[in-house]
Order: sequence, then structure tokens, then C-alpha cells
Amino acid sequence: MNEAEDLRQQLDSTVLRMEENYRMVVLGRLTAGIVHEINTPIGAIFSNNDVIRRSCGKVREQLSDPALNVPPAILKMMKVIESLLDVDRMACERIATIIRGLKTYARVDESELREVDLGELIGNTMKLVQSECKCRVALETHFAEIGPVQCYPALLSQVIMNLIMNAVQAIEQEGTITVRTSLEEGEALVEITDTGVGIPLENQARIFSAGFTTKELGVGTGLGLNIARRIIVENHGGRIWFKSEPGVGTTFYLRLPLRQPVSASKEISA
Ligand SMILES: Nc1ncnc2c1ncn2[C@@H]1O[C@H](COP(=O)(O)OP(=O)(O)OP(=O)(O)O)[C@@H](O)[C@H]1O
Ligand SMILES: [Mg+2]
Repeated sequence: MNEAEDLRQQLDSTVLRMEENYRMVVLGRLTAGIVHEINTPIGAIFSNNDVIRRSCGKVREQLSDPALNVPPAILKMMKVIESLLDVDRMACERIATIIRGLKTYARVDESELREVDLGELIGNTMKLVQSECKCRVALETHFAEIGPVQCYPALLSQVIMNLIMNAVQAIEQEGTITVRTSLEEGEALVEITDTGVGIPLENQARIFSAGFTTKELGVGTGLGLNIARRIIVENHGGRIWFKSEPGVGTTFYLRLPLRQPVSASKEISA
């Protein structure tokens, strides 16, 4: 390869990185803004629901006094209102859970190295893809007690999200995605296994290349694994690899040191 071609390739890949970084920063800010805007009204609905629910219970108790002779239809109506309020509360809890997950994903202080509970980070990230899984993909988790792991949470969450989305997309009809964490040789090991179509042998050497995708236009950009590898290897000094059997499924592995060297806490360059 001549020097000009070499330089052009370097330039192309730098432009690609910059575009992706810009997209992530914009998305992060937008999400953080939405999270903030939704959090406040959800808090108000939560506490109002609590007050109304307790008040309704008390009113029904009072009205149940036989001396008052309240028609049974009114008491029945009160019961229906209470059960609807319980459903509202559950819906609020669901929204609050999703918002907590988004907070981890969109953390704007992504350049900050922090100690996290890996299981919690993965669990929060998985909540965001649950709607994609609908009823066709079962999500299973087996998290070991591995203690705090020092990492860039937003970036790591982005990697987990990419790997799980790939797994979901690899399952054509019904299947299972299993996420495991364990401690191996003093490092954290994350395994994401799917029962999807697997990766054909001829593609296996190319899946980490920027732009390689087998998905339709508009579905995949082919950047997910390339970015994931950069985040794991360059930002965390870890390793990422996979084993795949076409027709059976795929497992992606992440190995992460529990602590980052002091010099790693400088501004990240992803
Ligand atoms: N779990 C998996 N099972 C089967 N094939 C996979 C799996 N993960 C990745 N691949 C293959 O590797 C290719 C590259 O994956 P990558 O995440 O880099 O890009 P993408 O998913 O196609 O697009 P993007 O992530 O940008 O939306 C995929 O198009 C797919 O062919
Ligand atoms: Mg992908």
C-alpha cells in the first residue's frame, strides 16, 4: 500500500471516529435533558398517587359504616378507583426504572472513572433493551459477587447495549440471551450468550472492522463492535473476544481489570 493510500485510510477512520463521538455527545446531552425533564413530574405523580391512594382507603373505610347506609355501588366504585391507583403506581415505578437506566447510559460525566457494581450497570442497561425483546427473547442473568469495578460507566454501558442489541437481532424468532459475570484470574469476566443464528466462519475475522455489517441499510452501521473493542481495549485495558457456532449461537466475552492504572484517569480520547 502506498503512503497516500495509507494516509487516506487513517483520515477516513479519524473522520468516522469524530462523527461517532459527536453523535454520542449530542445523544448523551439530549437524553440527560429528557431524563431531567421527566424526573420532576414523575416525582410529583408518585407522591400524589400515594396521598390519593391512602385518602381513598380512609374514605372507603368511613363509608363502610352500616349506619351511613351508603349504596353498595358507591363502595364498589371506591374499590375500583383504589385498584386503578395501584396500577398507576406500578406504571410510575416502571417509568422510574427506565429513567434510572437511561441515567446510567446518558451520564454526561463519561470521562470520569468510577467504581461500579457491574451487575447493577448491566441490569440497568438491560432494562433499556427490554422493549426490543418483547415476548420473543428471554433475558437471563447470573451475576457473581465480584465487588466494585473501576470503569467509565457510560462507555461500558454503551458496549453492553451494543452486544445485547446484536444478540437480540441475531435471534430470528424466539430465543434466550444469558448474561453472566464472574471473577477470573483477578479480573471481571462478562459473558453474553445468545441462541441466535451465529456468525458464519467467513465473517468471523471481519466483525470488529468499522463499517462491517450484515444488516439492512438503516438497521446497522457496522460500528458497534468496532467502538466496543476500542472502549474495552483502549479505555479500560481489557479484552473482548467471541465464540460462535453458526446455527447454534454466539458468546461475546469481556475481560476487565478491576482497577485502572492511575494514568488512565486522564481525559479519555474515545
Ligand atoms: N451476537 C451476534 N450474532 C450473530 N452475528 C453477530 C452478532 N454480533 C455481531 N454480529 C455480526 O457482526 C456484524 C457487525 O456487528 P456491529 O455491532 O459492529 O454492527 P451492526 O450491529 O451491524 O451495526 P450497529 O451496531 O452499528 O448498529 C453484524 O452485522 C453481524 O453480522
Ligand atoms: Mg451492533
